Order: sequence, then C-alpha cells, then structure tokens
Amino acid sequence: MHGTAFSHVDFYMHLLWGSSDDHSSESAITSDLEMRTLMEGELENMRKLLFILLAAMTISIIVACADSSDSTGSDTEQNDSAAQGDADQNDSAQGELEEIIDNLLSNELLVPLGDIPVPDDNPMTEEKLLLGQTLYFDTRLSGNDEVSCMNCHLPELGYGERRATFEKFGGGDGPRNSPTVINAGYYTLNFWDGRADSLEEQALGPIENPDEMNMSLDELIPKLQAIEGYEDMFIAAGFEDGITAENIGKAIAAFERQIVVTDTPYDQFLKGERDALSEQEIRGLNLFAGKAACITCHQGENLSDNQFYNIGLDNDDEGRFAITGDETDKGAIRTAGLYGITHTAPYMSDGSIETLEEVIDYYDRGGDGHPNTSPLITELNLTDDEKADLLAFLKVLGGEPPIFTKPEMPGTE
Ligand code: HEC
Ligand code: HEC
Repeated sequence: MHGTAFSHVDFYMHLLWGSSDDHSSESAITSDLEMRTLMEGELENMRKLLFILLAAMTISIIVACADSSDSTGSDTEQNDSAAQGDADQNDSAQGELEEIIDNLLSNELLVPLGDIPVPDDNPMTEEKLLLGQTLYFDTRLSGNDEVSCMNCHLPELGYGERRATFEKFGGGDGPRNSPTVINAGYYTLNFWDGRADSLEEQALGPIENPDEMNMSLDELIPKLQAIEGYEDMFIAAGFEDGITAENIGKAIAAFERQIVVTDTPYDQFLKGERDALSEQEIRGLNLFAGKAACITCHQGENLSDNQFYNIGLDNDDEGRFAITGDETDKGAIRTAGLYGITHTAPYMSDGSIETLEEVIDYYDRGGDGHPNTSPLITELNLTDDEKADLLAFLKVLGGEPPIFTKPEMPGTE
C-alpha cells in the first residue's frame, strides 16, 4: 500500500524485534529491550570507565596545583588556580554534553523524517491536489450540506479541533477526539485504533459515518455528478472513470499528504547539525530517549512505532480490541506521532489532556490506572528541571504546518 514506506527503519525494526507480528506481545518487547539494553550496556560501561579514569586524573592534577599554591601562600596564585578549576569544570560539562550528543546521534531509534510515502497508484499531481483540497472543504459531501472534513480538522487548529471529542452530526459529544491530519500519511494504519489501511480508505469513513457527515456514497456520487464542473475536475486529475468513491478517497488522500511537518530542528540535529538544538532541548531529547523512555513507543520515523498500547487513560474505549478481539488489546491505541504537537491540543484519543505539561505529568505518574495498562508505562520520577527539559524538546517538534484554505467551489458562481 505504501509504495516507498519500507525504509531502513522498518528493516532495522525487523532485525530488532523479529517479525512485526511479535509486537503485540509486550513481554516479548520487554525481553528484546532487555537484550538490547544489555548489549548497549557493555559499551556504555566501557565508556563510563574511561570517563571515570579521565575524571580521576583531572581531579588529582587540580589537587596537586592547589597544594602547591597553598604552600607559597600567595593570593594571586590561589586565584589563578581557582580560575583553572572553573575552566576544567566548564571543559568537563562541555565534554559531557558532547558525549550525550554522540550517544543520541548513534541511537538507531532516532531517525530524521524522510519524504512522506506516496502509493504508486496515487501520484500527487497538481490537478489532483486541487481536487482533493476542494473535496476536503466541500460541505456538500455531507447529508445536510453543512459538514466538511474541515469542520473537525481545522487548518488553523493544527488540523484537529479544540474540543475533547467531536460533535456528532445530530448533536452531542462523539466518543473520540478528532486527531490531527498532520503527518497522518506516515502511519502504516489510520484512525486511533488503526482500523483503516490507508488515507485513501480512511477518507471515505467520515463521509458515510452517520455521526460525522452522514452521506451514503451511493447518493454522493450522483449528487457530485450533478454539480457543474466536478466531473471535469476528476478527469483533469487523471481519473478516467470520473467521479467514483475510490477516486474521491484518492484525491482527498493526495491532498492530505501535503499536510506535513518535517525538517524540524530535531531532524536537522539528527542529520548532524549539532547546534540545531539548544542545550536544554538536547537534555530533553536525552530524557526522551533515556530516563523518560518515551522512545520505547515514540521511535523511528515520525516518532511512532505504529503499534498499539494501553497507556492507562481512565476511559472505557475498547481501542484495538474492537478490531482484533484480543483481550490484551482492550483500550490499546496506536502510538501517536509527535510532529506538529504544539498545534494539536487537547491530547489523547479521548482528548482528556489539555496541555503538554499535563501530558508529561501524566506519564510521570505512570498513567491513570486503567486495569489493562501496558507494563511499559511506569512512574518516571522526573524532577521539575527534567520535566522542563522534556517539554522544551517536545516543543521543537511543533514546526509550522502549511495552512490550506477553502478553494473556489465548482457549481457556485
Ligand atoms: C464530525 C467530525 C469529523 C469529520 C466531519 C471528519 N472527521 Fe476525520 N476524524 C474525526 C475523528 C473523531 C477521528 C478519529 C476516529 C477514530 O479514530 O475512531 C477522525 C480521524 C481522521 C483521520 C485519521 C488520522 C490518524 O491519525 O490516523 C484522518 C486522516 C481524518 N479523520 C480525515 C478526515 C477527512 C479527510 C474528512 C472528510 C472526508 C474527515 N476526517 C471528516 C472527526 C471527523
Ligand atoms: C507504551 C508506549 C508509550 C510510551 C512509553 C509513551 N507513549 Fe506517548 N503515546 C502512546 C500512545 C499509544 C499514545 C496515544 C494514546 C491515546 O491517544 O489514547 C500516545 C500519545 C502521546 C501524546 C499525545 C499525542 C496526541 O496527538 O494526542 C503525547 C504528547 C505523547 N504520547 C508523549 C509521550 C512522552 C513525552 C512520553 C515519555 C514521557 C511518552 N509519550 C511515552 C504510547 C506511548
């Protein structure tokens, strides 16, 4: 489906985890992780030993200097040696940071985001992109001519909306938060529970959903055919068979693949620009990949492993269970990618968390105690400084999503 999606990350993950089917077993993940940690551990230990040796040598030199200046009793010399001590301290702080950077740059789970995968059978031509944009904003795709994709995925709200869960077609709150469209084309499966295989398939869901746009595709096709200019737009977009459900899905999906945040300072950093991130942001990334263990799930391209976990939210969403029927999937949701994250509050599939600060507090306390919480979610014991560092890193991923506006609609003068 995703023509070019099989990147070296997938390959690496394959080596690392075995077949992707193994992922659902969390105990397998844990033991694989332990293996990896063991191997990395040995290297890490050697590095630490070297570091300790160096540090010991530096300290003994400082002590020797201090001793000799004491014996002469001269103030100026004492000041000199104090200054020397400061310089050494700065050097070692700098050395420590360099070591953190080296470790981060060699971490295979941190991968700069490449181009969005485009299926071979749905190339992004200019005419198709305009058609997709038109359909995205066209309220006539709904049963009451009032709802378009834009109603719940607003460009100026990070292609999500500022409410916990969506408003149903007939009024009232829907069961889930409207996720962002930003970078949705990088996922291997769409929707919070992964029930759509592609953006092409996903796009038709909300049109037919009685709670969302409430328009049967059988009625929609003749309705669009009757609007002057639409059929021509489909033909111009390369759809020889004109207006069909499949072509509607393809055009909207192609349009959505432009809605991306890429090349953030985080990506530039991973490509070797060591000063693309500030010291605080680097410390935050180091926590993300270390003590805070976010990388266990938010890893690889787009910072999602495309697997499903129950992170312990206090709700009764069935999650992935609805698709697999597997008890262990109760409340399991696909790992969210984190690009564009500053634009897409509120957070989580139930929209229950308002800010990124609160997201960090949530993970810090080890979730809210759902009975099926993944064993990978545990208390983190982050200090306030560490929380601030982690937040600084998350903000780096925000970027600036492109803003698309409603184009001229066919059939309206
Ligand atoms: C009434 C609100 C509403 C409307 C209208 C709506 N959506 Fe959504 N959209 C949602 C909700 C809620 C979800 C998550 C549903 C779920 O996962 O069960 C979603 C999921 C998605 C996703 C999946 C993102 C991901 O992370 O995998 C995409 C893409 C998307 N919508 C695009 C569209 C498009 C295109 C349209 C118009 C054809 C549309 N939506 C119309 C509310 C809406
Ligand atoms: C066990 C896997 C796992 C770990 C560990 C994990 N996450 Fe998540 N994360 C998820 C899943 C799954 C979701 C989607 C949950 C939902 O929406 O119900 C998510 C959602 C999020 C969201 C909200 C995204 C959105 O668009 O609403 C943020 C932000 C986030 N995680 C950040 C972090 C940070 C920071 C850490 C480390 C402190 C972390 N995650 C650790 C799996 C994980």
